[in-house]
Amino acid sequence: MASKVKRVGILTAGGDAPGLNAVIRGFGKTASLHYGIEVIGFRDGIRGLVENRYLEMNRGTFAGILTVGGTILGTSRDKVNKYVVDGEPQNMVPQVQENLERLEIDALVMMGGGGTAKNAKQLADAGINVISLPKTIDNDIVGTDTSFGFATAMEVAAEAIDRLHSTAHSHHRIILVELMGHRAGWLNLGAGIAGGADVILIPEIPYSVDSVTENIKSRIARGSTFSVIAVAEGARDIQDTADMDAALSLVKSANTPELRGAARTHLANVRDSQREHTFKLARELEASTGLESRVTILGYVQRGGIPCAEDRLLATRLGTAAADLVWQGHFGVLVAARGQGTEPVPLEEVAGKVKYVPIDHDWIATARKVGTGLGD
Ligand code: F6P
Repeated sequence: MASKVKRVGILTAGGDAPGLNAVIRGFGKTASLHYGIEVIGFRDGIRGLVENRYLEMNRGTFAGILTVGGTILGTSRDKVNKYVVDGEPQNMVPQVQENLERLEIDALVMMGGGGTAKNAKQLADAGINVISLPKTIDNDIVGTDTSFGFATAMEVAAEAIDRLHSTAHSHHRIILVELMGHRAGWLNLGAGIAGGADVILIPEIPYSVDSVTENIKSRIARGSTFSVIAVAEGARDIQDTADMDAALSLVKSANTPELRGAARTHLANVRDSQREHTFKLARELEASTGLESRVTILGYVQRGGIPCAEDRLLATRLGTAAADLVWQGHFGVLVAARGQGTEPVPLEEVAGKVKYVPIDHDWIATARKVGTGLGD
């Protein structure tokens, strides 16, 4: 049965990730060449959608981008219902509806992470035909086995840990490498296991300096006078975790504008005081073990560059599956990776949620079995 969909808008939003262009290619080729659907690419995520900045895409624009890092469309982190204009957040859903109607666009495919799923849900609730795709190096999107960008970032981070082993060994040092992953520990746990880190610290397991010190001292006793510690950017020690949780619950419980303002200021101060948590841990371990400590913040190299083969395959599968769903008129869903296939998951099951590492997850048991310290 021919679809009523004739023209589809696509956009990439949130942090860039390896594989975004592979998804654009997978979706674009399937929609345009296989189904004869016109594809319009909005620039810079939600910003281009609101400002009506776009390009008509075709076979030429989908060619040669499979292995290109970043996103040819550009991206941003704007929120469609809290879109900042002259410093004031405004709801831009009506503006988006008007732009899509004027361009005669029948559906919108959004390639983004958890934040984009929220944007997609807001647009779907306004009656727009929307499909979201799981993009993030953090792998923290609920409802999908994994997200594209994660495998490449794990490769990059594991290779960095490999390199740090040789310098730690040569100088008899503790090297702490801070990895991305936002509020979840997936990237740090996966790369830490793959890179053979001696200690892996994730947000889901608040750590104690004493426990980490114990790990290092037992290594020294066995003759290993160096250690490599993979620290998730969201990992915190027990006290900092308690302080952050208290500050977050203060914001949640604030029931007047004054209380909310004060609570938000306090939360910002707590966040600022904890920003250098990996450097603080390095100093504490240097004092408690007597070994020199050095810190490497791996940062944005985990987001850049050519997608690995696994991410190219995943991105192409998700992109083509999204085009199938558009053709079938199946909207209001995230195209989730499920085993060797894909599955549409309703946006309400995804939006506003974070997939954390379960404490009983197999990867945690795996790390413990090979003697990796987890800070507890
Ligand atoms: O979500 C991907 C991510 O790289 C997170 O791991 C990290 O915390 C965040 O984006 C950094 O955000 P920004 O690119 O805005 O600095």
